[in-house]
Amino acid sequence: MIHRYWMPALIGCGVLGTATIAMAAQQSEVERGAYLARAGDCVACHTAPEGKPFAGGLKIESPFGTIVSTNITPDPEAGIGNYSRDEFAAALREGKRADGANLYPAMPYPSYAKLTDDDIDALYAYFMQGVEPVAEKAPESDVSFPFNQRWGISLWNWMFADADTFEPKSGQSEQLARGAYLVQGLGHCGSCHTPRGLLFQEKALDDSDDAYLTGETLEGWWAPNLRGGGGDDDGGRGLQNWSADDIVAYLATGRNDHSAVTGEMTSVVANSTSHLSDEDLHAMAAYLKSLPRAADGEKSTRSETTPEQTEKMLTAADVEGKPGARLYLDNCNACHFANGQGAPQVFPSLVDNELVNADDPTGLVHVILAGARLPSTPDKPEALAMPDFGWRLSDEETAQLATFVRGAWGNHGGEVTADQVAEVRKSLPEDRQSSKPDFVD
Ligand code: HEC
Ligand code: HEC
Ligand code: HEC
Repeated sequence: MIHRYWMPALIGCGVLGTATIAMAAQQSEVERGAYLARAGDCVACHTAPEGKPFAGGLKIESPFGTIVSTNITPDPEAGIGNYSRDEFAAALREGKRADGANLYPAMPYPSYAKLTDDDIDALYAYFMQGVEPVAEKAPESDVSFPFNQRWGISLWNWMFADADTFEPKSGQSEQLARGAYLVQGLGHCGSCHTPRGLLFQEKALDDSDDAYLTGETLEGWWAPNLRGGGGDDDGGRGLQNWSADDIVAYLATGRNDHSAVTGEMTSVVANSTSHLSDEDLHAMAAYLKSLPRAADGEKSTRSETTPEQTEKMLTAADVEGKPGARLYLDNCNACHFANGQGAPQVFPSLVDNELVNADDPTGLVHVILAGARLPSTPDKPEALAMPDFGWRLSDEETAQLATFVRGAWGNHGGEVTADQVAEVRKSLPEDRQSSKPDFVD
């Protein structure tokens, strides 16, 4: 079609015209690649804090040691300037470096294996022509024996990685297929949201297995179950209670009426999903809503207290002998309110919230101790903050407060102990660990 449209111009302009048109096509290929790089969130891993984009140097902690991301700018010495298109494809889809060595699976090639040839071409055009070269090598990874033996990864790849490109299911609508492609492939959402096995492999790389996207704890944060289909007998959980528009709002701005983004997901929203088109976000949301969710396998400790009972107790300040509820009134009520629902898009609701109710309370405790800051996104540039309370609450008080929140308003999380809080406190930066600093009486 395009050919016929351009034909008169081609005849009219001769050789010069052809070159200009070729350049324009090249330009749009680079732009398409830039967009796909957003969808793949390459910048998040391949950029050090304060470092130049894509110059590598980010330290990624793994059970095997510290893996350092490499320079993927087109510099021929320090970066990937000498990679051919096929070597680039092999790095992305098979985890093979140009010299034939295996890459560590910290690079999400088990997901990128799904990428189509067209998308690889566009990404290659972008990384060769649209990215500023940086002539600085990233530091080496610090991985201990035997994991520093890269050949060993071949066995892991043979067992767990799957080199098939994405195929839509028969009868799958175009929108669902697009959503599945983005979520499973470039978005590599499963690398955080799918449970891992003993050898750190994702238990499923796509929805052919029920474990896909059922949630995982990573570095102290709970990455929730993302399967949003159907509702179970107690009315549904997490994304089951979100509409497709709620999911789109969360991915575009980091917030919606149910939740606000914290932890590792903050960078995903800031660097990747907030830059995607509405159409692609709707496709991803539709796909997540299409995944059926099993009702079993999750603890059902829904508390006896109804939302109305908790709200009444807090509104009447009837908290005698209930230290957790008193701590909530003193510290949290001003923003999250007696009904626990906060204010839409501003203060997230704590009712039926995944982070609050997760089996592993680490994320909740982390937010209370260290606070959280919403990312600034193109749609919502202002960054809202949740203050940190680690400096004013002891481990015991934090445990009482967290236990209260997990059982209030019909929530279904379990008890939190002071020992669990002490563990999370140890993971904070050193200057944030002390509960009562010297200047507080
Ligand atoms: C979750 C983190 C992560 C993401 C996301 C990621 N990478 Fe990587 N990538 C790595 C790490 C870590 C390495 C180095 C692994 C090693 O040294 O074995 C790497 C290595 C590479 C290499 C090999 C370069 C070399 O010669 O060392 C290429 C090419 C590459 N990545 C491209 C990409 C592209 C393109 C994207 C986005 C589509 C991307 N990566 C997204 C972590 C990531
Ligand atoms: C680097 C790890 C990581 C990656 C990659 C990642 N997520 Fe997340 N995600 C998290 C964590 C951690 C949370 C919990 C955040 C919180 O509780 O505030 C989360 C929360 C979410 C939520 C909110 C769920 C709820 O019930 O509150 C949605 C929706 C979501 N992610 C979608 C995605 C999608 C779609 C992708 C792929 C494009 C993705 N995530 C990739 C770590 C990740
Ligand atoms: C000054 C207002 C303010 C106060 C006081 C406050 N919060 Fe928050 N809270 C926020 C904002 C804003 C966010 C969203 C920030 C983000 O998630 O990045 C938030 C987020 C949260 C989240 C994460 C929700 C999610 O979906 O990821 C939890 C849990 C939470 N607050 C609990 C508490 C508790 C418990 C207290 C009392 C110790 C408290 N907050 C006090 C403003 C406040």
